[in-house]
Amino acid sequence: MTDIRTWDDFLSACENCRACPLAETRDRVVVWRGSIQAPLMFIGEGPGAEEDRRGLPFVGAAGRLLDSALEALGLTEDLIHIANIVKCRPPGNRVPAEEEAKACRPLLAAQFRFVRPRVIVLLGATAYKYFTGQKDGITKVRGQWIEKGGYAILPTLHPAYILRNGREKPHLWEDLAAARAKLEELGLAPPLEENAPSPSGG
Ligand code: URA
Repeated sequence: MTDIRTWDDFLSACENCRACPLAETRDRVVVWRGSIQAPLMFIGEGPGAEEDRRGLPFVGAAGRLLDSALEALGLTEDLIHIANIVKCRPPGNRVPAEEEAKACRPLLAAQFRFVRPRVIVLLGATAYKYFTGQKDGITKVRGQWIEKGGYAILPTLHPAYILRNGREKPHLWEDLAAARAKLEELGLAPPLEENAPSPSGG
């Protein structure tokens, strides 16, 4: 990989990357949305069709679900950075292969050095597996904090899974609320203001 000193160097390295076969079939390289530096980083699996077309992560149906939770929790753009295990769309939305995740890892590592998150939310089984190297089922490990390398890491369910299994939605909401609470605990986000009127009506 070329010498990456600035965020623009990093973006060029992503744009020019041909480290795995996904480069052959991608339309756009999908790197991030949110703030370049942010206390909370989300890691998904990989871009889908809409993301590949627009060059932004989580902008399809799953992304809209994620955004509605972020909005409800006051997780504004300055607090978050959203990325994926792989930056190029696996054809047919298949799960990225181990070699593809591995080929993408140096870029994700470089991304971490710019973003400098303290809290990381792993969205779904693929992000959990490739990020931690563990093979436990996501439904078993979701909601359980992992403290590693100075990061507080929280695996949770993938929003696309929630779209197919609506009954699981409270679990995703609960986990995202826990991530928000962790940011507050670390003094990295202001307390969430309650918009609901008080009982006195004031
Ligand atoms: N699913 C993901 O894991 N990532 C995206 O960017 C979109 C859908």
